[in-house]
Amino acid sequence: MTAIHLIRHRHGAWRLRHTPGQLRQLQQLLNAHSFWAQGRSAAQLRRMLAGSQAVVSAWQGSRLVGFGRASSDGVYRAVLWDVVVAGDAQGQGLGRRLVEALLASRTLAQVERVYLMTTNGAGFYQQLGFEAINSQRLMLKQRQ
Ligand SMILES: CC(C)(COP(=O)(O)OP(=O)(O)OC[C@H]1O[C@@H](n2cnc3c(N)ncnc32)[C@H](O)[C@@H]1OP(=O)(O)O)[C@@H](O)C(=O)NCCC(=O)NCCS
Repeated sequence: MTAIHLIRHRHGAWRLRHTPGQLRQLQQLLNAHSFWAQGRSAAQLRRMLAGSQAVVSAWQGSRLVGFGRASSDGVYRAVLWDVVVAGDAQGQGLGRRLVEALLASRTLAQVERVYLMTTNGAGFYQQLGFEAINSQRLMLKQRQ
């Protein structure tokens, strides 16, 4: 089986953002393996990548099999977003590699607190040192 290698993108993930075939694969990965990031257009994904301080993608040959990103001020706070592994690549430690690479990235390595939101993945993130917080409320202003 072809080995899976990680790409640690620079802020804004220029190459992923500007390579149509790669962006299309990202769109397909999110459509197929997330429920919260379906139906994002190429233009929206380009803007999302441009505004992400840390981005990691995982490739098996030329096939995108994993993705994760984070936004951060580089000192106090960071938030992980859109950590997704293709179905047939799950359960082999790739999700862990993606999150560890984001946490070790230059932007996040010194950050005081790293947050994330998850519906089904709490057990996964606990394995990586995250803990559920009951002292704070998650608040949301929803826009169309
Ligand atoms: C959640 C997800 C990213 C995990 O990726 P993965 O590559 O399958 O996870 P890994 O193989 O790296 O697992 C790492 C560890 O977490 C555990 N784990 C994985 N998913 C878990 C879950 N949902 N609940 C509890 N533990 C979990 C694994 O057993 C493994 O433990 P081990 O190191 O003791 O063997 C992947 O399943 C996925 O993309 N799911 C769909 C999208 C999603 O729900 N993303 C979460 C963001 S909210």
